[in-house]
Amino acid sequence: MVDRLFADPHLASLYDELCAGRPDFAFYLPLVRSARAVLDVGCGTGELLRLARAAGHPGRLCGLDPAEGMLARARARADVEWVLGDLATTSWDREFDLVVMTGHAFQVYLTDDEVRTALRAIRAALADGGRFVFETRNPAARAWERWTPEHAVDVVAGGRTVRVTTEVREVAGDLVAFTQSYAAPGWSDESRSTLRFLDVDRLDALLAEAGLRPAARYGDWAGGGFTAGSPEVITVAVPG
Ligand SMILES: C[S@@+](CC[C@H](N)C(=O)[O-])C[C@H]1O[C@@H](n2cnc3c(N)ncnc32)[C@H](O)[C@@H]1O
Repeated sequence: MVDRLFADPHLASLYDELCAGRPDFAFYLPLVRSARAVLDVGCGTGELLRLARAAGHPGRLCGLDPAEGMLARARARADVEWVLGDLATTSWDREFDLVVMTGHAFQVYLTDDEVRTALRAIRAALADGGRFVFETRNPAARAWERWTPEHAVDVVAGGRTVRVTTEVREVAGDLVAFTQSYAAPGWSDESRSTLRFLDVDRLDALLAEAGLRPAARYGDWAGGGFTAGSPEVITVAVPG
């Protein structure tokens, strides 16, 4: 089930404000710009592909997302292909030389079977010599321990200031369930989510099952090598 933050057009309008100043696009954008055909899985509001097109990308740019609220915003740009759905319902065949999953979208896959289904479809969508580049938060860095009311942020959206507070409800194995609350004068709402913090050995085993192997791995957005305590597991996976 898609989180309300993404499905509800009103809440989705908060998303880009919450992401302001994000460091990952400086990593992903050159990859997208240098690829002929790009699939962005869990593209959200489509900001990465929008930036690539605005910078003159001449080839195929395709964004896939199951959340109507997010895609409604993405569709403001008509020169990118936007597909409502997920990898369980699509069947691309060796069409893309780059597949990306950004914004920790990979963590929405909560079970090994969900990861298997996604990776199988991504492997099938990749052209010969293609790359799948994505990140997942490193469980060893325990990012969820900082998802507390003391770390609430204020964002300005639709002309009003909205306080966004994240609170963890439960940590069960590698699954973290949390609630994000939104509050502005005269209005409040919330969105419940669960994300999986997959450890790197299990991730590599699932990649291998799908016929993919990590060709490069980074631990942060500055391009630092992955270490046991890195905040991110950023993976460049290739067929083989
Ligand atoms: C945190 S957002 C990231 C959006 C975008 N990639 C970014 O970097 O800003 C996660 C996105 O994953 C999408 N999503 C949820 N379940 C999904 C699924 N099964 N397959 C693909 N995308 C999914 C959500 O709708 C949401 O847009």
